[in-house]
Amino acid sequence: MSKKVYIETVGCQMNVLDSELVMASLRKAGYGLADSPRDADVILFNTCSVRQHAEDKIYSALGRLKILKQRHPNKIIGVLGCMAQKDQKQIFQRAKHVDLIVGPGQLFQIAALLQQIEADGRPRMEVSLGRRDGSRIRIARSHESFDPLRDPEMRPVRCQAYVRIMIGCDKFCTYCIVPSVRGPEQSRPRRDILAEVRQLADEGCKEVILLGQTVNSYRYVEGDTSWRLSDLLEAIDATNGIQRIKFVSNHPSDMTDDLMDAVRDLPKCARYLHIPAQHGSNAVLRRMKRGYTIEEYRAMHARAIESIPGLAVTSDFIVGFCGETVLEFQATCDLVRDLRFKNSFIFKYSERPNTKSAELYIDDVPNAVKRRRNNELLAIQNAISESDNQPFIGRDVEILVEGPSKVAAQQNDASQISQLTGRTRCDRIVVFPGGREHIGQILPIRIDDVNAFTLFGHLTSPYAEPEMLPLRT
Ligand code: 5AD
Ligand code: SF4
Repeated sequence: MSKKVYIETVGCQMNVLDSELVMASLRKAGYGLADSPRDADVILFNTCSVRQHAEDKIYSALGRLKILKQRHPNKIIGVLGCMAQKDQKQIFQRAKHVDLIVGPGQLFQIAALLQQIEADGRPRMEVSLGRRDGSRIRIARSHESFDPLRDPEMRPVRCQAYVRIMIGCDKFCTYCIVPSVRGPEQSRPRRDILAEVRQLADEGCKEVILLGQTVNSYRYVEGDTSWRLSDLLEAIDATNGIQRIKFVSNHPSDMTDDLMDAVRDLPKCARYLHIPAQHGSNAVLRRMKRGYTIEEYRAMHARAIESIPGLAVTSDFIVGFCGETVLEFQATCDLVRDLRFKNSFIFKYSERPNTKSAELYIDDVPNAVKRRRNNELLAIQNAISESDNQPFIGRDVEILVEGPSKVAAQQNDASQISQLTGRTRCDRIVVFPGGREHIGQILPIRIDDVNAFTLFGHLTSPYAEPEMLPLRT
């Protein structure tokens, strides 16, 4: 009987994609899938280091497996991804029952490493060089993008696929661990990306979501030609079968005119941009070393909204960054009120070891204040999201149906799906009554009700009106 693997994933879309690809490569190597750690011969955690909380969750999950490992010493426990790269050998010290540590740049080795452990029972670790451990070229080579052939069976949503277009980051925002755990910025060859998209389209995939830490910094030089994200978008837009294109996350400094024009002009490109502002105060943006002023961010935002009718913009914010005063926090609240983002992801600052902010500043905003500011900003954003969703009531939107809604997914009987979820072209979540046959289709929905996060509707037929711009559907 084939050995079975169970994987648990935390963190960003990049990790979701890595887990999909790891499972695909292990399936190819003859492993089956397990539904729980108990049924598995190999238990993997694909980890995140962006905030302390994400690491704490993994260390306590590892702690809970100690007894299982004592009872079944042949089970292999592995830690993959950013925390593996950041903590390296320390993981073996903190959790002695771990057998395998693999950084994000070594995922291609995973099947071979598992075989070695199965053969001799000895732990293995493979990680990349640190950002100060050699020349840029050597460091970059030690971070290898893991993009094997795709396996449609392993995709969480069959009609939708993440496609990595670059790895790493060179921006070095002072709070951020990503440049040290994911290595230098490296763009994948245009040809490889387009071949992957072609394959996905042939398999029936309708939406591709291009991924990069700063996806709009994509640049691939081949001979005399330099390819930008806008060039990639144009080529993907011309791919038969692909109906929607999204990309995340953008850096505000790299929102060039050619990219905005591409989003406006390419029919398959979602009129949706995630452009994290992180903060509303210039003093804090400087301490964060974000590389733009708030006036520049506002001007970029205005340019995007003016040039792309119906555009929805979302953002990330950090509250309670080192030395954040009441006035500085208010500047973030003002920005959110003024720019009316579709939604914002809000995070409490979490000091990360070996980052510039850990070295230069004191993490002096008390946790209770961080929590209060987080709630306050969230309340402002949620009121905006809910109010901006109201005009959708009674209107039609077009959604790509992704699968059962959260509520339906918790019901055990998979054949009896009653409630589905999908997204509009602008990434708004829509829930409606429907059945299994609707999954993977692009369908018209009339909206009956809304809250801050979701539009609720029902299927309409025939499709009454095309997507209505400039309402941000
Ligand atoms: N503390 C809190 N939030 C962070 N982010 C990145 N680093 C930290 C940190 N040290 C947030 C940023 C980024 C998002 C993915 O996570 O807002 O855009
Ligand atoms: Fe981190 Fe800044 Fe790079 Fe984003 S741009 S991954 S926040 S260093």
